[in-house]
Parts: sequence; structure tokens; C-alpha cells
Amino acid sequence: MSTAKLTLNGKEYELPVIVGSENEVGIDVQQLRAKSGAITYDPGYGNTGACQSAITFIDGDQGILRYRGYPIEQLATQASFVEVCFLLIYGHLPNHNELTNFESELTRHTLLHEDMKKFFEGYPRGAHPMAQLASMIISLSTYYPESESELDLNIIRLIAKIKTLAAFAYKKSIGQPYIYPRNDMSYVADFMHMLFAVPSENYQVNEVVERALNLLLILHADHEQNCSTSTVRMVGSSQADLFASIGAGVCALWGPLHGGANQEVIEMLQMIQDDGANYKKYVDKAKDKNSDFKLFGFGHRVYKNFDPRATILKKSTDEVLHALGMSDPLLEIAKNLEEVALKDPYFVERKLYPNVDFYSGIIYRAIGIPTNMFTVMFALGRLPGWIAHWREMRSDKASRINRPRQVYTGATVRDYQSVFERK
Ligand code: ACO
Repeated sequence: MSTAKLTLNGKEYELPVIVGSENEVGIDVQQLRAKSGAITYDPGYGNTGACQSAITFIDGDQGILRYRGYPIEQLATQASFVEVCFLLIYGHLPNHNELTNFESELTRHTLLHEDMKKFFEGYPRGAHPMAQLASMIISLSTYYPESESELDLNIIRLIAKIKTLAAFAYKKSIGQPYIYPRNDMSYVADFMHMLFAVPSENYQVNEVVERALNLLLILHADHEQNCSTSTVRMVGSSQADLFASIGAGVCALWGPLHGGANQEVIEMLQMIQDDGANYKKYVDKAKDKNSDFKLFGFGHRVYKNFDPRATILKKSTDEVLHALGMSDPLLEIAKNLEEVALKDPYFVERKLYPNVDFYSGIIYRAIGIPTNMFTVMFALGRLPGWIAHWREMRSDKASRINRPRQVYTGATVRDYQSVFERK
């Protein structure tokens, strides 16, 4: 085993080095504080490995993303989302029997307890679907308390029910009656039917839309230790149950710097269009350090070359719009923004490229998904990744409660004074 050496106050410490299956190198600092009294300092955890994981590999410099070894480009064009769920959670692609059983389990557990409808009724009109989704997922633990023997069943329940929860949250927000799940439809088709059908009409699933949604869910399915997945691991590390841990992940995803960016992108493109489509002005604004404005859908903590998911989505956006016979002025603005930004030294020097959220919103719009549901769509896609990480952490003997340290910069010791003595 190789080691790294660290010199602190003239004393040398030898630290073990671990190497991953893709030759990623990590310096193991677990014993550093015990030996030297010092900790490592890394706000935002950009250089901190919090676990060893066999689920997803990313090489941000080369734009590589693989789930369990399979390149995202292959999965995106050949697999179904349900297969990818199985792959991420159980580590291998399902054989025919495994897939049939998994699909049938996912079909049989889609219903919500009827009482849960009362929760939806209690939310005010216009309640954001992400707030509803997070709280409804956590509420599932009141119906299905954790038991070791039902762990796999609760995983099935969660994947099966999340689309019913998401669709009910949407129907609630537009005041339409809930549409119940159907057992004769694929996972993706059933979700679309619950979202778009109305009782008086015979809803037909459009295959172009179904394929597009399948692709979007696969592209979002996992992304190793991102903010929401790390949150799931953080909460789960205290041995909180599956539903509580995933509900926390949904909350972390909601923020505009993470999954909430897809909603921000469309709102930004709309704003640029309303302002005369002057995209150059907004590129300048994003560069201006006196302005808070940033180009949503640009930049990534890990990808410093290109985001392979964005490349796939850009192509797919054109195909979907063409197949649906639609055009979207926001797509033109997005492409122009990308072209200008990619040539601009500010973005080039900082290695800022479009991320997965840059084009996803345009496809969501094309297939009729309202803007406030975009981040919910991301959550549906990311669910298998969160579950896979939660499950991996649970079975990892080296896993401990997550508890970072800090460098304290507050007041040093001082004596309490009564309120009359204080100045
Ligand atoms: N527009 C303008 N400038 C940007 C942008 C952007 N979208 N992103 C980063 N920068 C600049 C920063 O101001 C900083 O400049 P400086 O070095 O002069 O101070 C530099 O690029 C580095 O950026 P950081 O914010 O330090 O990078 P970090 O890794 O912390 O953040 C993040 C990554 C959050 C994705 C950031 O790029 C961002 O805010 N992007 C917009 C939001 C977004 O699209 N989020 C979705 C991410 S993908 C996902 O979650 C699915």
C-alpha cells in the first residue's frame, strides 16, 4: 500500500492511500486528528471523499458517466428506466425473470393508502409540488414503518408510489380529480396517464413522449456524491429510515443550485425572450461580479469539460420537437446562449459548460410538463440513485454516523455578566 506524507509543525505524518477501480486516488485522513490534532479543511467538500462506492463513476475532465460500469450513452439509448433502477440498486442488469418480477412488483404497489389523499387536500392551492412530494414521501413511513424484513418491499413501494404522489401533487395544484394508477401500462406510461388523463377522455400515451421521458429519467438516475445524494447518506447515517432519508434528499434537490436549476433555466430563457431575446446582454450580466445573475444550467462542480448528459439531451431536444411537430423559441435562445458563452473567455477559463438542466426543461415543456413540476421530474429520475446509495451505506461495515468537524473562529472564553452589568 502506498502512503502520502504530510508535514505539520516540523513533524511528519504518514497517511495511507487508497486507489479505486478507475485509479482514483484518495488520501485516508481518518487517523490524522488522532495523531496530529489537526483536521482537514474543505468547505463544500470539493476534495473530500466521504465513502467508497461501487455505484457510479464520473470522470469530470473527460466527460465520462457510467452506472455500475455501463456508459450513460448506451443506457440512454437502449435501456428502460425500470432496468436502470434495478441496475443501480442491485448492482447488475436484471435477467428476463428478474425484470418481469421487478416490473410486476412495481405495478402492484402503486396505490396510495386512501387516507393519504386527505394530506393533499390540506395543502393550499398553488403549494409547490416539491414541498408536497418531500412531505408525502416522509409520510409514507407512518404507513410502512421500517422493519428489516420489509426493507426490499419498502424500496419497491417507494419507487412504485413516487409517481402516484407526484401526479397527485400536480392534479391537486391544478384542481383536477386524481387519476388512479393503471396496471396495464409501463412505469413511464402510467405516470404520464396519471398526470395528463382526465376522467371524461380516453388518454392515449404518445410513444415519442414516453421515450423522451424514459431517457430523461435515465439521465437523472444517479450522479454519485452530489448534494442530494450526500444528504440522503447524511440523514441515513444516523439510521433514519428509507422514507425519511429520501424525503431529505428531495429537499436538498429542490434548491436552484441543484435540481431546482431546471425550473430556473426555463424562467431565465423566458425572461431573455420577453426582453427581446438579447442573449448577449445576459451573458455579460452573468460575467458581471456586481450582479447576482448567473447563467442557470451552466457550470458543474465535477464536469470541467462537458456534461455527457447535456450532449445527449441537446440532440434529443431537437428530435423530440421535430417528432412532435413543434418549435420552441426558447430552444433557439438556449442554443445561441450556449454558442456565445462557449466562446467567451470568462466561461472558457472557468470551464463552464451546459449541464443536464440546460436542455431538460425544453423537453419537459414540449411534452406538456408545467414548469413547477420540472424538479419533481428530476426527483423521480434520481430516486433509484438515492436508494442505491442509502442501501450501499446501510450494508457498508465501515459506515459511521456522518459528523464533520469545523475550525472554530468565534469568541474565546469570556465570563457571563448579568443584564445590568452589560454595556
Ligand atoms: N454563471 C456565471 N458564472 C458562473 C456560473 C454560472 N452558471 N457557474 C459558476 N460560475 C463562476 C463563479 O462565479 C466562479 O467565478 P470566480 O472564480 O470568478 O469566483 C467560478 O465560475 C467557479 O464557480 P463556483 O460557484 O465556485 O463552482 P461550484 O463548483 O461551487 O458550483 C454550480 C457549481 C453550483 C453548479 C455553479 O456552476 C452554478 O451555480 N451553476 C448554475 C446553477 C446550475 O445550473 N445548477 C445545476 C447543477 S447540475 C445539477 O445539479 C444537476
